[in-house]
Amino acid sequence: TQRRRYVIIDAPGHKEFLKNMVTGAAQADAAILVVDAAQGLAEQTRRHAYLLHLLGIRQVAVAVNKIDLIDHDPVKFQAVADAVRNYLADIGIEVQAIVPLSARQGDNIASRSLNTAWYQGPTLIGALDAFAPRAQLTEQPLRLPIQDLYRYEDKRIVVGRIESGHLKVGDRIRFAPGGREATVATLEFWDGNVKRTPRSEAVAGESVAFTLDEDVFVERGALASTPDQRPREATRVTVRLFWLDREALKPGDRLTLKLGTAEREVEVEAITEVLDVESLNSADAKQVDRNGVARVTLRSRKPLALDLYENNARTGRGVLIRGPQIAGGFIVDFAGETTENLFPFDVGVGKPQRAQINGHRGGVLWLTGLSGAGKSTIAIATLHTLLRRGMQIYALDGDNLRSGLNRDLGFTPADRNENIRRIAEVARLMADAGLIVIVSTISPLISLREMAREIIGHDFHEIYIQADVATCQARDRKGLYARALAGEIPNFTGVSAPYEAPITPALTLDTRRTTPDAAAARFCDFIEQTFKV
Ligand code: ADX
Repeated sequence: TQRRRYVIIDAPGHKEFLKNMVTGAAQADAAILVVDAAQGLAEQTRRHAYLLHLLGIRQVAVAVNKIDLIDHDPVKFQAVADAVRNYLADIGIEVQAIVPLSARQGDNIASRSLNTAWYQGPTLIGALDAFAPRAQLTEQPLRLPIQDLYRYEDKRIVVGRIESGHLKVGDRIRFAPGGREATVATLEFWDGNVKRTPRSEAVAGESVAFTLDEDVFVERGALASTPDQRPREATRVTVRLFWLDREALKPGDRLTLKLGTAEREVEVEAITEVLDVESLNSADAKQVDRNGVARVTLRSRKPLALDLYENNARTGRGVLIRGPQIAGGFIVDFAGETTENLFPFDVGVGKPQRAQINGHRGGVLWLTGLSGAGKSTIAIATLHTLLRRGMQIYALDGDNLRSGLNRDLGFTPADRNENIRRIAEVARLMADAGLIVIVSTISPLISLREMAREIIGHDFHEIYIQADVATCQARDRKGLYARALAGEIPNFTGVSAPYEAPITPALTLDTRRTTPDAAAARFCDFIEQTFKV
């Protein structure tokens, strides 16, 4: 139109096309609901209207088409218009215009028709032009989901696509969840695959690669924003969902949620509203069947960084995955139980006093290595020696914790992540209380140990208990390698799951070359040196 450009997404009404309708509606800023003047408010229109509502489309105009078939009769038109308006009002949609028109004859599409001289409202084009435009993505707060990290000649390059806002060198940015902050040091672009041109600013829609002034811990899935206009961080999210999977969705189901570049294991906590799109009845809210639309509360162990859909369409919607497939799409309605209402304060007072009393500082020695490398053996021997020397020392062991604190966790990547997070939090508290803590846990990935380092802070020391897979397999004290090789234990580190050795450990104890006692003796010296006052 003269006012602006439009993209029209035509979403056919039949049941089989509901999926298309949802996909279309999810990208739309406004909707025109087409009603047949002769048929009035049909089943299908109700279904569509309800979907629009559930998908969060607030701007709706109604086109009452085929007005020629009812002889441009104002009374008949009014009856249809009232029925539609009332129905839409019932489900929470305020219609902006109801236009009598004839697509075939062109009545009231671009120009006012003499056939409907009784009609005072806008033409269809007029109704379109009256819709409010979406806020320009570049004008919205910065949202930059992190896609990846690369090391390139000493530089750590962070990569992602700016979904909204803009980014320039010198900007202070914050990574959610967690809240680590850093300043953008350089911004680098790939133009095609050809050359890299340094630039100083990027905007919504562009993919960027940048470096930071500090080596803060960032991982794929983090959502960058400015420090003052942040996304929500929540472990509990209420969504409006469209379900596509053959198998119904039920409370307690576990799924993978994908939003931006983040993936999280979530559990269906509650299904609060279900609409059977075929009958349009509010179905019994025990499950969501295929093509069903529902309001569902999801819970994740790790906080999710996101926006409400009404605040940011890009970071306010996502998909749910079951097995290999997309099982549903959703928009975020509400995100609660956030960390934003908590005000942590530093209870870690009295460190110097505790160190004075104990004769040493507190801190954490993080032993990493394969199962069977000798972590627990060395930890126990060291513990005995140092206790005898009067030190305040304690050991946290992965195997032991897994029968208590972490007994709900297995060995999937998400569970290992949670396992390490909890162990690190506990170790941090103990170190704060003045203890020296020896942690023995495989913690197979660099990113897991970086997370632990981040949680614990500067008194974190990574110790590599070195022994290759062949050696550990030959020892196989617990008989686990034999079982893992026989395919009986999935995700077994070193066999069917990866182990990444530390790159710059504070100390390496190679148990292929030294006896446990010799390793422990070296370790004792290291500890005494490290934590002396
Ligand atoms: S971690 O990977 O999450 O750090 P953690 O140290 O707590 O592991 O637990 C490892 C112990 O669990 C091993 O010593 C072994 O006894 C047992 N275990 C059982 N299944 C596995 C598995 N799939 N991979 C590794 N260890 C396993």
